[in-house]
Amino acid sequence: MADLDDIRDGKNYGVGVAQSCGGFFLKGSSHLDWGMKDRLSRIFNPVTGKTVMLAFDHGFIMGPTSGVERIDLSIVPLIEHADCLMCARGVLRSLVPPTSRKPVCLRSDAGSTILTELNHNVVIDVQDAVKLNASAIAVMVAIGDRETEAETVANLYQAVDEGQAFGVPVMGVTAVGKDMARDARYFGLASRVCAENGANIVKTYYTEDFEKVVACCPVPIVIAGGKKLPELEALELAYKAIQSGAAGVDMGRNVFQSDKPAAMIQAVWAVVHKGLSPKDAFQMYNDL
Ligand code: 5RP
Repeated sequence: MADLDDIRDGKNYGVGVAQSCGGFFLKGSSHLDWGMKDRLSRIFNPVTGKTVMLAFDHGFIMGPTSGVERIDLSIVPLIEHADCLMCARGVLRSLVPPTSRKPVCLRSDAGSTILTELNHNVVIDVQDAVKLNASAIAVMVAIGDRETEAETVANLYQAVDEGQAFGVPVMGVTAVGKDMARDARYFGLASRVCAENGANIVKTYYTEDFEKVVACCPVPIVIAGGKKLPELEALELAYKAIQSGAAGVDMGRNVFQSDKPAAMIQAVWAVVHKGLSPKDAFQMYNDL
């Protein structure tokens, strides 16, 4: 039985004070359920509205490409500087310390490798993502690829259905096949298709006129870093994306293939969250 001793009547009802409605900071996410918002708030900093995701899911397509040969040696030391980790479940289970306490955006489709290019990917059961305490799941969509477009859109759709059931946001990842355009028209279309099919976050690539891509996408966009660039250029890329309205970066090779990966991720973080200019961020990179 509950302890009935000294039960005090409530006094502070705040009569006349309107209850705070608690709007949500993230674009297009106000109407989501609590669990979704909680997970999104782990990925995106509620103060800046932005995120630096450290992507190291490359091995599931590329194998041991440069920088991810030994996740324990090259990636684990960077984890403390990232807002969110993006990786596949095998590496998460085998190499990422669960004590990292970082949100995970789990790569949740599988089936392609660089040996066959775009392929008929399948979606991993969302229950496994829940078991891994993932804060989001990421699914690739090959817009414009005759062979796999419909199948990968269906994958996204399925992931969104399953994600909704468990309160797990879905990140739509726009693929770049060999024959696909890389301009604002294409990325705008691909990003919008992801969002229309229910993606809560879209990952795409920076391009000229990126503000148009962002403007017509109703959910937050993060940009992939793409192939390794000289550090200053990679910082410029991040800066231009953020200035165009991106909600962050999901960067891999430009961090872990850098000569100084720990310095690089901290410089990228300063660009994303503090709006540091590329010049100042490059100075920071050099100082670190
Ligand atoms: C690889 C991916 C990567 O996560 C994504 O491309 C980001 O990495 P990078 O900055 O190296 O492009 O989806 O399949």
